[in-house]
Amino acid sequence: MRVLVTVVTLFFLGVQAQSEWSYTEPGLVESIWSKEYPDCGGLKQSPINLQTKKVKHSRSLKPLTFTGYGEEYLEFPMTNNGHTVQITLPPSMQMTDSEGIVYKANQLHMHWGGAFLELSGSEHTINGIRRVIEIHIVHFNSKYRTYEEAKSQANGLSVLAILIEVDEFAENTYYTPITSQLINIQYPGQTTTLTNIKIQDLFPGDIRYYFTYNGSLTTPPCTENVKWFLFRDTVKLSKAQVLKIETSLRNHHNQTLQNIYRQIQPLNHRAVEANFPPFAGKCTPDSGVSNILASPC
Ligand SMILES: *[C@@H]1O[C@H](CO)[C@@H](O)[C@H](O)[C@H]1NC(C)=O
Ligand SMILES: *[C@@H]1O[C@H](CO)[C@@H](O)[C@H](O)[C@H]1NC(C)=O
Repeated sequence: MRVLVTVVTLFFLGVQAQSEWSYTEPGLVESIWSKEYPDCGGLKQSPINLQTKKVKHSRSLKPLTFTGYGEEYLEFPMTNNGHTVQITLPPSMQMTDSEGIVYKANQLHMHWGGAFLELSGSEHTINGIRRVIEIHIVHFNSKYRTYEEAKSQANGLSVLAILIEVDEFAENTYYTPITSQLINIQYPGQTTTLTNIKIQDLFPGDIRYYFTYNGSLTTPPCTENVKWFLFRDTVKLSKAQVLKIETSLRNHHNQTLQNIYRQIQPLNHRAVEANFPPFAGKCTPDSGVSNILASPC
């Protein structure tokens, strides 16, 4: 019996030691993730910088379709998992891609910045621009029965990414159920329940247009089986909402969870496609990249 207990204890210690990855000290820091998680050193890693000049416009890519995303009265567990805030989603929420592949939702989490007055913390950048927050909705291919089964299989996963911008005083009330409850999950392992929220309301106004490419999970084990979709349009949150996200949660070392995003990874000849045309020179680029991206010119 004692031997068994010892073996089991060692097993869990082993698992725990291995899962202690981090972005900065202490822990298994980003630059050495690949020592314990070899896939993190692969050639199809995420996130990447999307260079709109080099993105291939594909006319055959149809908009994504969503079912179960607008359902009311669902309750979602929201947890501080020590790395970020994570919202558990039911497999009844499904996304279908242009090829007709159905993906079932598993969880939603966020990446943000906030440390040293450095505001932005999105993972993907567009033409070098890092946005303030990035939301990831992680799905698994419905040809597998569960997320656990799909997560290590070929074509197993798909992540839908949403980029967030700051609009100084404009509170985005769709996000308030999330931002107002972060205080209840300050410490790792704490969970609260989200009610009165429709995940679809967290989407940008126009969900027809997206970028897509083949990549990986952006955290260990960095598995290279992720089909990425990144909405072209952004969501806006007020500065106060962004500050709440950046300052409310703590990690296992009781440090504020900040700058929780991975560095840009090499593209290595991968193609990035979009289902909207490249931008002609007609638009007035005076207010920056985001407006060029958003205007239908
Ligand atoms: C992604 O990989 C699949 C094969 O798994 C391929 O059919 C598809 O064209 C790739 N997408 C891009 C944008 O390269
Ligand atoms: C975490 O740190 C804060 C101050 O930075 C302190 O007030 C709090 O008691 C600490 N919590 C734990 C569980 O150590």
